Amino acid sequence: MSTAYETYQRAKDLGTPGPAASSKLVTLTIDGVEVSVPEGTTVLRAAALNGIGIPKLCATDSLDPFGSCRLCLVEIEGMKGLPASCTTEAKAGMKVTTQNEKVAKTRRNVMELYISDHPLDCLTCPTNGDCELQDMAGAVGLREVRYGYAGENHLDAKKDTSNPYFTFDPSKCIVCSRCVRACEEVQGTFALTIQGRGFESKVSPSQNQPFLDSECVSCGACVQACPTATLSENGLIEKGVPEHSVVTTCAYCGVGCSFRAEMKGQEVVRMVPNKDGHANHGHSCVKGRFAFGYATHKDRIKAPMIRETIHEPWREVSWDEAFAFAAGKIKSIQAKYGKGSVGGITSSRCTNEETYLVQKLVRAAFGNNNVDTCARVCHSPTGFGLKATLGESAGTQSFDSVMKADVIIVIGANPTDAHPVFASQMKRRLREGAKLIVLDPREIDLVRSPHVEADYHLQLRPGTNVALVNALSHVIMAENLQHQKFIADRCDPEGFKAWKEFILDPVNSPEHVFQETGVAPELVRGAARLYASKPNGAIYYGLGVTEHSQGSTTVMAIANLAMCTGNIGREGVGVNPLRGQNNVQGSCDMGSFPHELPGYRHVSDAATRALFGAAWGVEIQSQPGMRIPNMFDAAVAGTFKAMYIQGEDVAQSDPDTHHVTAALSSLECMIVQDIFLNETAKFATVFLPGSSFLEKNGTFTNAERRISPVRKVMEPLAGLEDWEVTQRLSNALGYPMTYRHPREIMAEIARLTPTFTGVSYEKLDRLGSIQWPCNDRAVDGTPTMHVGEFVRGKGLFKVTPYVPTDEITTRKYPLLLTTGRILSQYNVGAQTRRTENSKWHDEDVLEIHPHDAEQRGIEDGDWVGLQSRAGETVLRAVLSDRIQPGVVYTTFHHPFSGANVVTTDNSDWATNCPEYKVTAVQASKVTKLSDWQLKFAKFNEEQLGHLDRARQPHKVG
Ligand code: SF4
Ligand code: SF4
Ligand code: SF4
Ligand code: FES
Repeated sequence: MSTAYETYQRAKDLGTPGPAASSKLVTLTIDGVEVSVPEGTTVLRAAALNGIGIPKLCATDSLDPFGSCRLCLVEIEGMKGLPASCTTEAKAGMKVTTQNEKVAKTRRNVMELYISDHPLDCLTCPTNGDCELQDMAGAVGLREVRYGYAGENHLDAKKDTSNPYFTFDPSKCIVCSRCVRACEEVQGTFALTIQGRGFESKVSPSQNQPFLDSECVSCGACVQACPTATLSENGLIEKGVPEHSVVTTCAYCGVGCSFRAEMKGQEVVRMVPNKDGHANHGHSCVKGRFAFGYATHKDRIKAPMIRETIHEPWREVSWDEAFAFAAGKIKSIQAKYGKGSVGGITSSRCTNEETYLVQKLVRAAFGNNNVDTCARVCHSPTGFGLKATLGESAGTQSFDSVMKADVIIVIGANPTDAHPVFASQMKRRLREGAKLIVLDPREIDLVRSPHVEADYHLQLRPGTNVALVNALSHVIMAENLQHQKFIADRCDPEGFKAWKEFILDPVNSPEHVFQETGVAPELVRGAARLYASKPNGAIYYGLGVTEHSQGSTTVMAIANLAMCTGNIGREGVGVNPLRGQNNVQGSCDMGSFPHELPGYRHVSDAATRALFGAAWGVEIQSQPGMRIPNMFDAAVAGTFKAMYIQGEDVAQSDPDTHHVTAALSSLECMIVQDIFLNETAKFATVFLPGSSFLEKNGTFTNAERRISPVRKVMEPLAGLEDWEVTQRLSNALGYPMTYRHPREIMAEIARLTPTFTGVSYEKLDRLGSIQWPCNDRAVDGTPTMHVGEFVRGKGLFKVTPYVPTDEITTRKYPLLLTTGRILSQYNVGAQTRRTENSKWHDEDVLEIHPHDAEQRGIEDGDWVGLQSRAGETVLRAVLSDRIQPGVVYTTFHHPFSGANVVTTDNSDWATNCPEYKVTAVQASKVTKLSDWQLKFAKFNEEQLGHLDRARQPHKVG
């Protein structure tokens, strides 16, 4: 029998998806009741919408109707036989009977056939109580199986347990194809097929391979769709059917998927993507769906620790002692070296409320503006470039907007790996016929994947984005393809005039920039014409745009391109930064930058300072504080002495590791708040244990400005939520904070930030999520920005000259290194490396073109030394023609591979965002680790020893 909880969950399945938006209603009669539904609704859905349940197996409302199981058949007056209600459209005047003796008998016969080939082990089945087959047997009143169970059957079919997160038990399969269709329609991977015919038909991953070896990307869509125990989460198999659930938001990437954490007591049984989630509509990727085990990993640090220097063992202490120690250090350092000798870094992995408190602590308790965030090293150019051109430092659209795009440009982003759920939605639109233009030095999956092929792949040389985007605009203007009315009505005329003169200069022509970009002019012209010719053109970009010496210039060039074609201010168009971490947008919104208070208001603005000063009871400094690189430089120079870092791992994530670690080693006090002893914490003198996203309340803001609730599903392992830790540190420093719940922090944010005035926890509970701006002018939020008018009034074209990076190849460093992410790992990997995701990617490797490899005598799998002017590391080589000759590629998820030992201190001219994407390097075959790696291994061992002694006092001595 289903639990009340499961019945509730399943009741929400309306059987088939709703029709495309239709205002016309049709009225029909179902079981004598007159009902009206939107035109295009199926009979199955019409009945479900009106509380009439029709048995079904192959239908579910996340997939197109299929009509294979014949369980949902009904009688319809005037129609022959018994039509399947899932494939029959409701028509005006129809008279439907969902239940009579004839219908019931036929359904029982169908069920009998299914059950005669199904193991009768319901009582011991892991999904007992969570099985649609079981429910349907009850619903159709099946009491006996006349065919017996002794005939031909599949009961001996072997289980596939290769996937670390779910099990495939084919003996329970009813071949309804829901999994196959989910993999195609929802995920877009096409990893599953039905092999064989009739009784022999069976579900098969790829070419009859185990799941782990197949093309499956472990998104879980098939598991979600399966109505039986054939595809089940291992968590469910091991722990049993959950008892209660809490809706929360994924803490990994900037898509911000909504999940139901399904629980037994304090234990998460499984994370189920929320059908009502506005960013994901019930879909997920391997990280959010399955990689949550890190939250209870044995490496979690659950007690505060302190020490005088980084070369001595940690001492576990009480929270009170840790706060007193940390506050004492900060105060004495400020007394000795001045107020400006300390600073803080907020985290894009933390909630808005936590981030807000850290910047408040720095400005109010430290008394300076030395606060920065990891967005400095990823999307700070987005903030600068979009603010300058459009007037707001944020993406313009909802994810759903892509479903109205006719042509999509993807620049420097790899959505299938870094933003997988959005990538699935984009692929659906591409399969529907939208055109695709990819600008990327590497052949990302989107360029060619099942049923998706880019119309243009402009495979540019790293570092030449500005030249290529300018060339696209040049073609549009030179060939008179611009949207004249939009430009005249919506854009600043002076700005446009100057830009037009600039962009038409032949130096911006595809033929002229070919030398730099390496992209054939006819491809650039074709792509430009395609983008300009379609009614709706949407641009999505990522860190391949921002992490350059001209990152801000490229963002402005992209805005110019969108404005000159009129592609802003409605659905299906726009400029959309794909944010890396879950709360990059939020951490920027919350005033994490040294020059801006919450809501992107400059500290030099007296009215803004007065507003915050009055609310916080302090005087706010009018000069911007130090950015992260300035803090590191000052630390090395000896003028910056203490830092408070919440939830960031700068020692691994920031460029030029030698410089970063030199800076961290120079500090007299470093307070790290994190869930693990990450690479940065190894340089800390105070460790404050953090809480995972499962252990706290708050909100995250995703790449579409969507504020979503993060809800506590278990108590914090160390006893305090992260916002409480900051609050108590502030109190110890003598600046009082007295919040009782994050909702009070959000209330303060709303009071002080015009774009957030309408945001409250009550509204979030009611609406599920809210896209800012949310205020009197947009009470329920703003899905699309710049409608009718730009936030800054008129859109401002900016002149964007291409200035080649200083990071050029030389005889010594003849290759260009560019970096990126992989699906199964997340950022520095601190979380995902502590999950089974490492099965897919347990080391960072160097992708090198076979031609470059051959010249260097490198073979697949060889150890390769990678040297730049900043440093050297050693990785394993993988020969790949996904990159062009002259370019090498790696990821940065593992500390030991040290990709950032090699990246340099070059950075964006406007924002100091590091130029991670272009480093001149040499690669050569080696047989031993680099000096840095040997040093790293030694330091790591020393630090783990210090931790070990703190956690196991009996070993001390
Ligand atoms: S594995 Fe599940 S969803 Fe797929 S065909 Fe079998 S029963 Fe249906
Ligand atoms: S987990 Fe996702 S990718 Fe893998 S088979 Fe299932 S639906 Fe396809
Ligand atoms: S797409 Fe991003 S937000 Fe969604 S489940 Fe995956 S990692 Fe989490
Ligand atoms: S649910 Fe309609 S045919 Fe299967």
